[in-house]
Amino acid sequence: MKKRKNIITVAIDSPAAAGAGTQAKLISKRYNLFYLDTGKIYRYIGKLKLDSKSKFNYKLIKKKIKKIKISDLKNKSLLSNEVATTASTIAKDKKIRDIVHKFQQKCAYNPPKNFKGSVLDGRDIITVQVKDAMFKFYITANIDVRAKRRFKEYKRLNKKITYQQVYKSLKNRDKSDKNRKYGPLKKTKDSILINTTKLSKKACFNKIKAIMDKKLNN
Ligand code: C5P
Repeated sequence: MKKRKNIITVAIDSPAAAGAGTQAKLISKRYNLFYLDTGKIYRYIGKLKLDSKSKFNYKLIKKKIKKIKISDLKNKSLLSNEVATTASTIAKDKKIRDIVHKFQQKCAYNPPKNFKGSVLDGRDIITVQVKDAMFKFYITANIDVRAKRRFKEYKRLNKKITYQQVYKSLKNRDKSDKNRKYGPLKKTKDSILINTTKLSKKACFNKIKAIMDKKLNN
């Protein structure tokens, strides 16, 4: 694949609800970078599985991913806990990971011309998708804080779910995402750790901005 030259690439890996999406959006705005929330692709396939039941197969996934648009990933139906859990299950499948690889590569290395580069967040962005990213961040927070944040989001969306259910679901997803065979979540030595447990969104972003500005202004 041909890569656009002289672009800024930012790769972020994180467990669920650690604040990576919030930081990625702030980064994309500040530096005019194209943002791809890769978890939404797995959620989209998870939703496809829930909706299509027995018709769910690789051929169908390929067909859908070929035509996928960024607007498809913004659908509110992808935000449920059921979809998140199904996403984590289908994400273990190597064939499915391979199908979505190309789309992620295109977004990372050939973002639309009006952007100066790209920022992708997910579980295997630094380890698999954008190994040569200019900036690599591993964003995390303790599970209680993550569960509280996610629970609040669900309440805002009027979802019927208890805090205990959210906590358990995040714990199971952490376990599955970290221990699976293909594209497991892990922190690489060359990525910068940002722990958001005790930091506000703004304080986190200031840390990230300081790191990025130092390199970009050099
Ligand atoms: O980030 P989000 O919580 O929306 O991701 C949903 C699920 O998709 C994750 O739990 C994970 O299993 C999967 N995923 C993945 N690789 C990525 C992004 C998400 O396997 N790069």
